Amino acid sequence: MDKIRAVIKGICGYVPDYILTNEELTSLVETSDEWITTRTGIKERRILKGEDQGTSVIAAEAVKELLEKTGTDPLEIDLLICATTTPDMPFPATGNLITDAVGAKNAFSYDLQAACSGFIFALSTGSQFIETGKYNKVVVVGADKMSSIIDYKDRTTCIIFGDGGGAVLLEPTTEEFGVMDSILKSDGAGVCHLHMKAGGSRRPATHQTIENGEHFVYQEGSAVFKFAVTNMADVSAEIMARNKLKAEDIAWLVPHQANKRIIDATANRMGIGSEKVMLNIHKYGNTTSGTIPLCLWDYESKLHKGDNLILAAFGGGFTWGSVWLKWAYDSA
Ligand code: UT7
Repeated sequence: MDKIRAVIKGICGYVPDYILTNEELTSLVETSDEWITTRTGIKERRILKGEDQGTSVIAAEAVKELLEKTGTDPLEIDLLICATTTPDMPFPATGNLITDAVGAKNAFSYDLQAACSGFIFALSTGSQFIETGKYNKVVVVGADKMSSIIDYKDRTTCIIFGDGGGAVLLEPTTEEFGVMDSILKSDGAGVCHLHMKAGGSRRPATHQTIENGEHFVYQEGSAVFKFAVTNMADVSAEIMARNKLKAEDIAWLVPHQANKRIIDATANRMGIGSEKVMLNIHKYGNTTSGTIPLCLWDYESKLHKGDNLILAAFGGGFTWGSVWLKWAYDSA
């Protein structure tokens, strides 16, 4: 029997309207457009404003448009996996809220938490449901409302993160397209460098934890930077080597958008020129689980059937990994 692979049939993204510029950040913290641009590559990011607006709002917008664009009846969806670090609530899963919002009444759904590697972990997981032959339509969404866990008095983190997300529809194929290979890794020893101190079961919320600002992202930026550069580059080189892919075989590198300098270092290590690197960090910043689907959405019109894409990410945990994807359709 021919091997079943999971192929991406469509991609949609969503970013909120509000634009938080570097200039506005200079009124909140001691920073400058010049520092942010040269150290990160970020010019602006999107922020979801309004009462009772969680990550599910971003994700549901992306999924609704995806279903419309691909002509998919929500009732046909078998499974929805939501990669997020900023769930609407500790429970139920944000995936449950998204399936309800889009009318995917026959789908089961759950969340996957792998910080900035969330989307590639979820893509790999979702593709394996398809490969079993039991599931025909799987939606994988990566979305985060990072502004909900950012301290806008901390200049080392508030300049980096933004809100947004995107979703893909996976279907089976027996052709040589789709998710071809993945390497996923994690190391919990990285927790000390990047985490949220309180609000979980270890340190539930108290007046004291709130006063201490322990419900915000804590990041030791330069330590994380070093691990990110090494690990993202290593795993991308590894997936190319084990699949005998050379730099000239790769149409696009789709890197997690955390810092332009990390992206450049990964591309250099792979021998890939900047013209083949998807980049949107300047306009969205780091949207955690949202960065990779937002890149695919932005660059969809440039993608061709048969293009080899390497998706690569690094994030809190630590988590990191790489996916080799063979794009399955020509965009209009
Ligand atoms: O996506 C999940 C994983 N996260 C990442 O991959 C993020 C990885 N880390 C980074 O992207 C970078 O480390 C940052 C962008 C967070 C920081 O850049 P850096 O080049 O590593 O700066 P640094 O932390 O080494 O700080 C250098 C200087 C310090 O001042 P002194 O001690 O040299 O006087 C900081 O206080 O820059 C200062 N600084 C700032 N100055 C102006 C830190 N943040 C700012 C700021 N504006 N926003």
